[in-house]
Amino acid sequence: MHVLSIGSLKGGVGKTTVTLGLASAAFAKGISTLIVDMDPQADVSTGLAVDAEGALTVADVLANPKERIVRKAIVPSRWTKGTNKKLHVMLGSPAAINFDSPHPNSREIWRLEEALALVENEYDLVIIDSAPSLNALTRISWVASDRVAIVTEPGLFSVAAADRALRAIEELRRGLSPRLQPLGIIVNRVKPQSLEHQFRINELREMFGPMVIAPYIPERTSMQQAQGAAQPLHTWPGESAQEVSGYFDQILERALRSVKMAN
Ligand SMILES: Nc1ncnc2c1ncn2[C@@H]1O[C@H](COP(=O)(O)OP(=O)(O)O)[C@@H](O)[C@H]1O
Ligand SMILES: [Mg+2]
Repeated sequence: MHVLSIGSLKGGVGKTTVTLGLASAAFAKGISTLIVDMDPQADVSTGLAVDAEGALTVADVLANPKERIVRKAIVPSRWTKGTNKKLHVMLGSPAAINFDSPHPNSREIWRLEEALALVENEYDLVIIDSAPSLNALTRISWVASDRVAIVTEPGLFSVAAADRALRAIEELRRGLSPRLQPLGIIVNRVKPQSLEHQFRINELREMFGPMVIAPYIPERTSMQQAQGAAQPLHTWPGESAQEVSGYFDQILERALRSVKMAN
C-alpha cells in the first residue's frame, strides 16, 4: 500500500482539487484506493459523493483507532456505482479540529498510521487530503505517509511556503518517520499566458530544481464544474477536462513510480 499526502501550509491553494484529480486518475486506472479526509472542512468527502448517513468519521478514528471504528468511518464513493472498482473514503468531519493541537504527543501522532495498518491489505493506494497548517492533523497525516506532495500557486510567497513545507517534511523524516519523503511540488492554478506566473515558476525551479513537478495544473473552470457536480474529472465532458485529467495521470504515475523505486 502506498500512502500519499497532499499538503500545503495554506488553505485555498488546491489541495482538495489535486486530491480529487488524483482520485479520479486512480479510479480511471482501476487502482483500489482509499481517500482519507483529514481536513476539518471535509470538502473531499463532498467531492467524492459519499453517503455519510450512519457512518463514523476520521474524528472517531483519531479518538480511538480500533478496527470496528475504522471500518465504520470508511464508505464507498458513489463514483463507483455500476462499476466493480474500489474507491473508498474515510469521512472527514468538522470535529477533527479537536485533534489539531499545536503539540501532539507521541501517542496521538501515530493514530492514523495505526488505523491504516488495519486496512492496508485492502488498498493499493491511500491519498490523504491534509489540513492547511502544520499542527497535529497535518503531522498525523504525514507520519502515516510514504510521500507528501506540496501544492502551491505560482504567487509571491510560493517559494517561502514550499520551503517551509519541505523543511517540515524533513524534520518529521529525521525525527519520527524515516520512510517519509517529499514527492515534489505541484504548481496549481497556472495561467500559461501570465508573465507573473512564468516568473514565479522559474523562481520555484531555480530554488527547487527537479522537485518542481511537471506538468503544472492550469486554472480551468472544468475542474470546478466536475467538483461541483461531485463527478470524476476523467469522465467530465470537454477537451479541458480531458487535458487536465492527463496531467493528473502523469502526476499519479510519478507518485507510484517514486514509491516502487524505494522498495
Ligand atoms: N486549477 C484550478 N482551476 C480552477 N479552479 C481551481 C483550481 N484549483 C483550485 N481551484 C478552486 O479554488 C478553490 C480552492 O481550491 P481547493 O482545492 O479547495 O483548495 P484547498 O483544498 O487547498 O483549500 C476551489 O473552489 C477550487 O475549485
Ligand atoms: Mg481542501
